[in-house]
Amino acid sequence: MRDVAVIGIGMTQFGELWGKSLKDIFVEAALKATEDSGVDHIDSMYVGAMSSGLFVGQEHLGAVMADYLAVTPIPATHIESACASGGAAFRQAYLEVASGASDIVLAGGVEKMTDTSDVTEVLATAADQEYEVFHGVTFPGLYALMANAYMHQYKATREQLAAVAVKNHRNGAKNPNAQYRNEITPEQVMTSTMVADPLRLLDCSPVSDGAAAVIVASMDVAKKMKKNLIRVKASAQTSGTIALHSRESFTTLPSVVRAAEKTYTMAGVTPDQINVVEVHDCFTIAEIIVSEDLGFFEKGKGAEAAEKGLTSIECKRPINTSGGLKAKGHPVGATWIAQIIEIYEQLSGTAGERQVKNARIGMTQNMGGTGASCVIHILEAI
Ligand code: COA
Repeated sequence: MRDVAVIGIGMTQFGELWGKSLKDIFVEAALKATEDSGVDHIDSMYVGAMSSGLFVGQEHLGAVMADYLAVTPIPATHIESACASGGAAFRQAYLEVASGASDIVLAGGVEKMTDTSDVTEVLATAADQEYEVFHGVTFPGLYALMANAYMHQYKATREQLAAVAVKNHRNGAKNPNAQYRNEITPEQVMTSTMVADPLRLLDCSPVSDGAAAVIVASMDVAKKMKKNLIRVKASAQTSGTIALHSRESFTTLPSVVRAAEKTYTMAGVTPDQINVVEVHDCFTIAEIIVSEDLGFFEKGKGAEAAEKGLTSIECKRPINTSGGLKAKGHPVGATWIAQIIEIYEQLSGTAGERQVKNARIGMTQNMGGTGASCVIHILEAI
């Protein structure tokens, strides 16, 4: 396998993008990434998107985006893995370059969720239809079950969940591409509208439009382009049970634990060596559980760590410096690509007010549903 680097990044603003189509926003992000990389062509492309057919009535996204990007006849493939679609798209790009099949590949993600009023139902198509959705539960409800189990098992408090949202809004306020750039207080979180007990509106990631893209290239190409050398040090993708009830525990995500083990082994690093990490905080409880499953905190200690501020930009374990899904926004197909853009900026020293000092090794963790799919990458500045 060859060494692989990320050499260009581009994303749209995340939020409610009225007046722009799915194609418009993907092309905007893809052109920004291509221009940023300096390459004059791409060999192939992958488009991560969860459900563009149901959100906006458009499928066949590989071909559609290649056409509007004016790069036909290159191979162009749509990848779907629910909220992990972008991560899975990037992994295919990484494998294609690592294998030597291509030198320069675009990995992008896109979703336009605000054009339909049925967002919750569309998102719920990623859960188990027969055993979960048929009985009326959707993602806020599923994560609420996880939150209740965690709070019961580890005596975690409402304040501790709120601390995640407060920190991520503080980081999002420093991110020009974030959907929500307003800081919030714990009291605002704990008095916001109840969505699925104990999760309130400000515990949830929002409904978002957005697109993001990166250019993935062989290290030889990266060196010729004289870019900051940001190497993909490890890549792993795992699956887990689709329904929560099939799991032994609601307070750990086996797909995340396994993917983390694989990436740590492949990269030859331990959790302590990761300087900055973007995780899938679709709900506040998700960030807490994932921060434990990635090995950053002991089981049951993630909530306390959030409350103590140990995951803030200034502390040893900065999590979601971009604002996370919570504040930056969660256009599902684009989410993971935006995570890698944050890590690329952190490792390149270009994250501005969000910069983590001396960040050299970064990680992204992205999952579909309640962890039925998970994609993790570790990147390194060399
Ligand atoms: N965070 C912060 N503010 C939010 C928000 C969020 N998640 N969701 C909505 N808002 C704000 C809106 O901007 C609006 O503010 P305004 O009154 O100043 O304009 C206000 O709250 C009400 O917005 P509205 O669109 O009416 O909210 P809603 O009740 O329709 O939706 C949620 C709120 C939480 C239900 C929705 O954001 C949601 O479903 N989130 C989860 C998405 C999800 O499940 N993703 C997949 C995860 S696996």
